[in-house]
Amino acid sequence: MDRRLLARLDDWVERRSYPNRSEAIRDLVRQGLVELDAEAGRQETVATIALVYDHHNRLLPGRLTAAQHDHYARIVSSLHVHLDHDHCLEVLVVRGPSQSLRELADRLIATRGVKHGRLTFATIGRDLH
Ligand code: NI
Repeated sequence: MDRRLLARLDDWVERRSYPNRSEAIRDLVRQGLVELDAEAGRQETVATIALVYDHHNRLLPGRLTAAQHDHYARIVSSLHVHLDHDHCLEVLVVRGPSQSLRELADRLIATRGVKHGRLTFATIGRDLH
């Protein structure tokens, strides 16, 4: 690893409070493998979709709700937090083939007025020891 990359790694280790480089590298590899498995698309998996939006946007809440009802069988649970006077945070726990979770997330995140959106695949760690 070149010196600049190593310096970035050490910065990462410090910021994330890892005890050493090895533990940080292990986590990064696991993270990469979870993403790789998820991209394969066949596997049944779980994920969270986080969305931040301004609820004053007149059509947005209805559009997000409609998209969720179209995929109700994939949504295990949802949480709504009123962040401040204007903004809402919605977190969905979703389950199903990873490709379909990706499609649902893309549709929600691409909805006009959504300010932040993120799909995060989770894992129970099988094959990641
Ligand atoms: Ni709200």
